Amino acid sequence: MGMSVTISVATEQDAEQIFVLQYLCFQSEAALYGNYRIAPLVQTLDSVKEELASDCVYVARLGDEVVGSVRGHITEDGAASIGRLCVHPRLQGHGIGARLLRAAESALSEERGAKRFRLHTGHRSEGNLRLYRRVGYETVGTAEGTDGVPMIVLEKAAGEYAATA
Ligand SMILES: CC(C)(COP(=O)(O)OP(=O)(O)OC[C@H]1O[C@@H](n2cnc3c(N)ncnc32)[C@H](O)[C@@H]1OP(=O)(O)O)[C@@H](O)C(=O)NCCC(=O)NCCS
Repeated sequence: MGMSVTISVATEQDAEQIFVLQYLCFQSEAALYGNYRIAPLVQTLDSVKEELASDCVYVARLGDEVVGSVRGHITEDGAASIGRLCVHPRLQGHGIGARLLRAAESALSEERGAKRFRLHTGHRSEGNLRLYRRVGYETVGTAEGTDGVPMIVLEKAAGEYAATA
């Protein structure tokens, strides 16, 4: 019998595990774009710690191990920006990513007053786009990542919870 994965608010002590997990999980995105300088791979541990202190950060845990994470914050225009969604490769495809996203959305709307959620992903990341569209996000535009990768920007209004698989 396996242990179950739980979703909870991240604590300061999770910084190292989130940092390492992010580095592992975003390797597939780096490979997809042939670009190993994408933002999640060059972010420093200190920067992750700063985001832990200021952002709304959730982790998925399996026992003591952090196996997934997501974070979000309110931007100048009042929308919540959600990012760094990642799940350990060995546990992907079991709905943990969708659960993390839901947890971040609920906290950002209920605790921080977000009326809209915004996220972005690389233009070739079909799996990510499928996940986001399935939970109600729609493309609103494009942007260029700090690393030069073309990104698709998606949004949904708070309260729109499309049925998940
Ligand atoms: C994006 C990411 C976080 C998704 O995490 P995940 O836990 O695999 O997400 P989910 O399981 O919720 O959804 C993924 C797929 O599993 C399927 N799934 C979900 N629950 C399932 C279940 N119980 N049984 C079978 N399949 C299931 C979903 O339908 C979805 O299928 P699809 O790819 O055909 O659309 C993960 O792939 C990842 O870490 N990627 C690398 C980093 C990255 O690109 N992050 C996003 C940055 S924008």
